[in-house]
Amino acid sequence: MSDLVFRPRRLRRNESIRALVRETEVKASQLILPLFVVPGSGIKKEIASLPGVFHLSADRAVDAAKQAADKGLGGIILFGIPERKDAEGSSAWDPKGPVAQSIVAIKKAVPHLVVITDVCMCEYTNHGHCGVLEKDRNGELQVNNDATLTLLQKEALCHAEAGADIVAPSDMMDGRIGSIRATLDNKGFDQVAILSYAIKYASAFYGPFRDAAQSAPSEGDRRGYQMDPANRREAMRELMLDIEQGADMVMVKPALPYLDIVSDVRDAVDVPVVAYQVSGEYAMIKHAAAAGALDEEAAMRESLTAIKRAGADLIITYFANYF
Ligand code: PBG
Repeated sequence: MSDLVFRPRRLRRNESIRALVRETEVKASQLILPLFVVPGSGIKKEIASLPGVFHLSADRAVDAAKQAADKGLGGIILFGIPERKDAEGSSAWDPKGPVAQSIVAIKKAVPHLVVITDVCMCEYTNHGHCGVLEKDRNGELQVNNDATLTLLQKEALCHAEAGADIVAPSDMMDGRIGSIRATLDNKGFDQVAILSYAIKYASAFYGPFRDAAQSAPSEGDRRGYQMDPANRREAMRELMLDIEQGADMVMVKPALPYLDIVSDVRDAVDVPVVAYQVSGEYAMIKHAAAAGALDEEAAMRESLTAIKRAGADLIITYFANYF
């Protein structure tokens, strides 16, 4: 006989009991699948840096969207790779570009599937930065904040006109939420929601994405606009600014290395909180599993559960398809 009063193992004895007391669940309806869309038709090409993820032309994106709808996923988020890149990224608001064309085709085929679009300039500029590039007085490269806002407004409007339900600005320019909100409202799109990448760190974990989106900066890096990974309090400042400017939902990105931030955000606001399990997080699991170092399915579920447990309502993940 032992004098133990509490024996937590009683509630772990078998799967039925564990299921009964489980606090966190990951469901397909809480997951958002990223899709990379390219010009052309009949294209489905695996991305070398992201095994299991593809470049898709609009017609093939429709197939992926149908599949996502059949699985009951929460939605999809579109990233575009244009035919032409120039200094100001003018393909970003081309109604014939892959994002606009894919939205139209997907909305026709699966009208109820929630379609989100990433709004940023880095996929469209020939220098790979997220806005208008210039040199400051010290000769350092800087993205001109206010000049970039005008471009983002055009891009968001183009996506709304094509039929996007939600636009998601990921550029980290100051004031973009307010300016995009004003443009959408002025043009009659007051029902198009804004999911702000409110807290986006300058992260090494975006590596595979930049390969996938061909958006690595040709010179310099993104630390002049994305957040310093060392900063926690600053995240609250970014969060509140975007809420004040009208963000309907907010995102933390990356996810797993930033669970403290996800938890802070959950405590601070009542709007839906989204976490982005980014390309590097996905690739780490895929490559480690391919090398036999861990169980892919178990590592995937554990990482997604951890992100939800920290406070995310929704997760953008390349694993969404696995549900
Ligand atoms: C565009 C953008 C990036 C990601 C999402 N939107 C790349 C970046 O900021 O360099 C990264 C997503 C991922 O790594 O999966 N700015």
